[in-house]
Amino acid sequence: MVFSAASAPADGLAVGARPGTPIGIGDPLLARALAGCADFKAEAEDVLPVMTGEGWRVVVGLGEPEGRNARRLRRIGGALYAAIAGLGPVSLTVSLGLSAVESAELAYGMTLRAWRPSERYRSKPDPDKVVLLAQVTVVTDAPNAAQARFARLSAAAVGASFARDLVVAPANDLTPERFVERLDQLAAYGVTVEVIDPAAAGLNLLAAVGQGSVHPPRLVLLRWSGAPNGDRPVAFVGKGITFDTGGIDIKPAEHLEEMKGDMAGAAAVAGVLLALAARKAPVNALGVLAIAENMVSGRATRPGDVVKSYAGQTVEIIDTDAEGRLVLADALAYAAAIGKPCWMIDLATLTGAVEVALGGHRAGLFTADDRLAASLMAAAEAEEELLWRLPLTDAYDEALKSDIADLRNCQWERGPDALHAARFLQHFVPTELPWAHLDIAGVAGVDEDGPLAGEGPTGFGVRLLDRLVADAFEGA
Ligand code: BES
Ligand code: MN
Ligand code: ZN
Repeated sequence: MVFSAASAPADGLAVGARPGTPIGIGDPLLARALAGCADFKAEAEDVLPVMTGEGWRVVVGLGEPEGRNARRLRRIGGALYAAIAGLGPVSLTVSLGLSAVESAELAYGMTLRAWRPSERYRSKPDPDKVVLLAQVTVVTDAPNAAQARFARLSAAAVGASFARDLVVAPANDLTPERFVERLDQLAAYGVTVEVIDPAAAGLNLLAAVGQGSVHPPRLVLLRWSGAPNGDRPVAFVGKGITFDTGGIDIKPAEHLEEMKGDMAGAAAVAGVLLALAARKAPVNALGVLAIAENMVSGRATRPGDVVKSYAGQTVEIIDTDAEGRLVLADALAYAAAIGKPCWMIDLATLTGAVEVALGGHRAGLFTADDRLAASLMAAAEAEEELLWRLPLTDAYDEALKSDIADLRNCQWERGPDALHAARFLQHFVPTELPWAHLDIAGVAGVDEDGPLAGEGPTGFGVRLLDRLVADAFEGA
C-alpha cells in the first residue's frame, strides 16, 4: 500500500462517483464505455470495473457526501478490493479525491478485506480464488499524513489477521501446544509469553476440560508493558478451545467441523495484544488465554463430576459441552488475582443461544458496570464490531444451584443459556472489579462475504478492544 501525491501509471485506475452526477466527465473513454449503464447508482460500496482501450477503469461509488465517514470509507475500500482482486489488474491507482485521513481509512478497509486463509492447507492454489492485484497506490494531496494514519490502523489489521489465521486453522494443526508455539510471533513485538500448567496452578476446571485430550491444556499469560511499571493493566481473557467435540456429552455431527473455531476468543485476545504492541500503545495489558481441547475419551470428564475451581467454589459439571464457562471461570479468577487489573473483558464463543437471540450481526455484551458498557458500545459502533447488552442478574442463580456442589455449570430446562453462562462466570469475578463478558459465538465467523471480511473468520474483537484502549488511554 503506497500513498502518493501523483497518479502513478498502473494497469487500472479507480475513480470516484457520486449519486446523480454524470460519470466520466473529463474521461471520454469512460464516458463512452458507460453510456447507457443506468444500473450503476454510485451509492457507497457500489463498484463498477470497466475494461477500456487504455486498461481498466474502476468506478467507485462514494455515496452522498454527508455520510462520508471513516466507517463508510473502510467499507468502500473493502468493496473495491473484493471487486478487483481477482479481475485482472496487478497494479491499481486509486484516485478518488480523498483527504489523507479518508485515504488511510479506505486503504485500511482494503487491507482488512484482503485477508485470505493460508495456502499451506492446499497442495495447489484454488483457480477460483486467485488474487492478481499486488500493488495499490492511493492518490492524496498529503501522502505523508495518510501514511502515518495508515501505519496506526495497520497495527490493528495485523492483530485481526493474526486472529483470523488462528481461527481458520484446523484443530489437527492448531493443537493446544501448537497454539502456544504460534504466540512466539508476539514476542517479536515485545509481548512476553508465559505458559502455565493448569493442574499445577490449581486451575482444576481448565484441567478437567482438557483431560480427555492427548494434547494437554495450557493457560497462557501475555503481557504488553507500554506504560510505567506501577500502572494497573487492562486484562483481556479468551476462551481457547482448539476443538469442542462436546466431550462425553458429544455434539451432533452436523457442522461439528466449525468447532475448530471455538478458540476465537483467545485468538482475539492474542490479536489485541499484538495490535497494542505493534503500535506501542501507552498502556499495560495482560492477555490470558485458556487453551484446551474438549475431547471424548476414557479419561474425559464425566457428566456429574464435581471439580474445585481456582477461586475455591466447587462446580458440578452437568454437561461437558458447557466447557467454555468452566475454562473461563478459572481464567477470570486467575487473571483478577495475579494481574490486579483496572478492568477485565473476556471474549468467548460461549453459547449457541446468543446466536439464536442476536444473530450474526451483534455479539452479546454482559456487564454490571454501566461505564464500561458505554465505553464498549461506543467503541463497537466506531469499529462496526457491534454489541447488544443482555441481562446479567441474580435471576439466573436458581438455575445454577447444584444438589451437591456450590454451583452447576448449566441446567436442562430450555431457557436463555447465554444469560446463565454469563451469570455463571460472574461468580468467579471479584465484585469490585469492572468486568464485561462478550459472547461472540454468532459473530466470530460469517458464512457470506461482507464488506470487511469474506466468508470465514472475522477476527471479531481485535479492532473493538484496540479502539477501547485507545479511547481510554490515548484520548484519541
Ligand atoms: N462452543 C459452544 C458454543 C457455540 C455453539 C459456539 C455454536 C459457536 C457456535 C459451547 O461450548 C457449547 O457447546 N455450548 C452449549 C451449552 C449447552 C450444552 C448448555 C450450547 O450452546 O449448546
Ligand atoms: Mn461446548
Ligand atoms: Zn465450546
